[in-house]
Amino acid sequence: MPVPPPPVSPDNDNPRAPRSAFENWISLSGAVLAAGSFFAFIFLFAIETFTGDRNQYLGILTFVVAPLFLITGLLAILGGWLIHRRRLARTDPETPRALLTIDLSRPRDRRNFVVFLTGAFVFLLLTAFGSYETFHYTESVEFCGTLCHSVMEPEHVAYQKGEHARVACVQCHVGGGAGYYLKSKINGARQLYSLAFNKYNRPIPTPIHNLRPAQDTCEQCHWPERFTGSLERRYDHLLSDKPNTPHTFRLLLKVGGGGAGPVGGIHWHMAKTNKVEYYATDEKRQDIVWVRTSVAGGAGHVYRKGDFTGEPPAEAIRTMDCVDCHTRPAHNFRPPNDLVEQAVRHGRIAAADFPLLKRHVAAALSAEYADVPEAMTKIAAALQSRYPASPSRDSMVAEVQQLYRENFFPLMKASWKAYPNNIGHKNWPGCFRCHNDELLAGAATPRITQNDCNSCHTILAQGRGDQLSQLAPEGVEFVHPEGETSGLLCSDCHNGGNQ
Ligand code: HEC
Ligand code: HEC
Ligand code: HEC
Ligand code: HEC
Ligand code: HEC
Ligand code: HEC
Repeated sequence: MPVPPPPVSPDNDNPRAPRSAFENWISLSGAVLAAGSFFAFIFLFAIETFTGDRNQYLGILTFVVAPLFLITGLLAILGGWLIHRRRLARTDPETPRALLTIDLSRPRDRRNFVVFLTGAFVFLLLTAFGSYETFHYTESVEFCGTLCHSVMEPEHVAYQKGEHARVACVQCHVGGGAGYYLKSKINGARQLYSLAFNKYNRPIPTPIHNLRPAQDTCEQCHWPERFTGSLERRYDHLLSDKPNTPHTFRLLLKVGGGGAGPVGGIHWHMAKTNKVEYYATDEKRQDIVWVRTSVAGGAGHVYRKGDFTGEPPAEAIRTMDCVDCHTRPAHNFRPPNDLVEQAVRHGRIAAADFPLLKRHVAAALSAEYADVPEAMTKIAAALQSRYPASPSRDSMVAEVQQLYRENFFPLMKASWKAYPNNIGHKNWPGCFRCHNDELLAGAATPRITQNDCNSCHTILAQGRGDQLSQLAPEGVEFVHPEGETSGLLCSDCHNGGNQ
């Protein structure tokens, strides 16, 4: 059988030019992709190594996205080669397989070489620019808060209303330093996986177990040497009665300090010389049965609750840090009670127009709804039926709907209920998880001190009207607005919702 002559291209100076199965468009694009992603990988890796940036999303790019493109590129080279080899074998079994030769003395090779070098240079430059820009984007609040929109929406919305609305997500969630480098890397990849396969939990569970110790992150800005002293706070409430009677507490919170200067007050737990460790039996760290203190230069204590006589598992012992009290520094989903009271305080709802306002609004906000549209309809219906004739009713309803949208996220099941706020003790046990009568250290030190109502704060005034301007520097005895509390924890009755 006669062998057909090989095809001759017009500007080919060698009629039997070597032809490789790699010379095809698929393999060529694969090679470009592989080279680009390899370069991006090296580049990102260098940023991480030399700048000490510990952004987990940079990690996703470096160790997940770039290699994925690299592998895709390599597979394309191989695939193109396989396909093309078969085609070559079919059309031209006799073509000799020779190595690619570049001869710079040939004008055509010289020209191609220059074009190739320029192209490669521009390509790599663009890749570098692209990956650097992507890297910066992943650091931004926009990326963290909106890329996986529905998942992070609750945190992002609540964050914009908080004190830390100008602090980037990564400053608290990743921080600097080398220790958490690998952890955040693995975590980043896992997040990507759970997002891709819809495997994430609703609500996103807290506590976050691989969060950096808060001292590394919070203390970038709140250095412990700063002595805070006492802070005066007003807690303005409304009762759930017909006239929505105001009821206020003015407290002097003894925040104190833990660094240079006097160590004491609430931040005593964070002093460099003090260490408080605890063991909680539940996932949310609410039921604390064991506490150990160690104080430099003094004796520590071990406190145990009720029938917990054993030793806690070593890996479950947690050293107390900022987020054990400040659980919601950036994403504070507010409880319905606070929301109504705040709207009244800010003059957005006129309490005088709506008898039993607090009760009805708190009930409407506390109910369970499948999604936001359902909530909007049902909240409106409930409040319209309560106040059929009030002139400012529609603006009140719109205000309540807005409160709902900013603090409740039914799709992610995120709301105040899902996330304990440990800063006080009214709606959650908070401080009373440890400061109670049940954690005992034996005969010599029966219980953790500071249990009476004027030890963490001084109650300066309580009630309404004139009562609030008669301040008692040494503190007054607490008067509960409604009946006896009979030794119960505040949070046994108060839950932020209907009560
Ligand atoms: C001031 C520090 C800080 C900033 C800024 C911050 N967070 Fe958080 N975040 C926390 C703390 C503390 C927790 C709770 C950790 C715990 O309880 O273990 C948390 C929890 C979360 C959770 C878990 C679910 C939850 O609500 O508890 C998600 C998701 C989250 N943050 C996302 C974000 C996003 C997105 C941003 C930026 C828009 C951001 N965070 C900014 C400190 C911060
Ligand atoms: C990048 C800097 C930065 C980081 C990191 C940071 N904060 Fe803050 N924080 C601020 C600034 C700024 C304010 C003051 C905001 C204001 O005055 O309105 C503030 C305010 C606060 C307040 C007082 C809010 C109030 O009621 O007045 C608390 C409490 C707080 N931060 C706790 C934390 C905790 C806990 C962490 C770590 C999880 C943390 N911060 C991390 C910058 C930061
Ligand atoms: C034992 C619980 C507890 C721990 C632990 C704790 N705090 Fe606080 N912190 C409080 C309380 C209570 C307040 C009073 C303000 C309030 O109620 O919001 C406060 C107030 C603050 C304020 C506001 C002070 C001001 O001047 O406006 C900042 C900032 C703060 N804490 C940061 C931190 C940081 C950072 C850490 C970790 C190093 C930390 N806290 C650890 C309970 C705690
Ligand atoms: C994990 C347990 C635990 C939690 C939670 C806790 N504390 Fe403490 N606290 C202790 C221990 C233990 C001591 C030291 C007890 C002693 O010396 O009697 C202490 C001491 C104190 C002191 C006295 C400091 C001094 O000057 O000697 C104050 C004030 C205080 N806590 C306030 C708070 C407040 C406010 C909260 C909640 C925001 C809180 N604590 C949450 C364990 C805890
Ligand atoms: C271990 C410290 C500690 C002890 C003991 C303590 N409190 Fe408090 N209390 C706090 C802190 C911290 C806050 C501030 C919470 C916040 O900023 O949201 C607070 C807030 C309050 C408030 C205002 C809460 C609100 O939302 O209106 C009242 C009222 C109050 N305490 C009453 C009491 C009474 C009554 C007792 C005694 C049974 C008591 N406290 C004992 C730490 C303590
Ligand atoms: C036996 C249940 C019970 C206990 C325990 C209890 N409360 Fe109350 N509390 C109530 C009731 C009922 C009201 C009246 C509700 C209303 O009018 O909205 C109320 C009203 C209040 C109010 C004003 C209205 C509001 O919703 O904020 C405050 C503040 C308050 N309590 C603080 C506390 C504190 C702090 C503790 C713990 C020291 C505590 N309560 C313990 C049942 C209780």
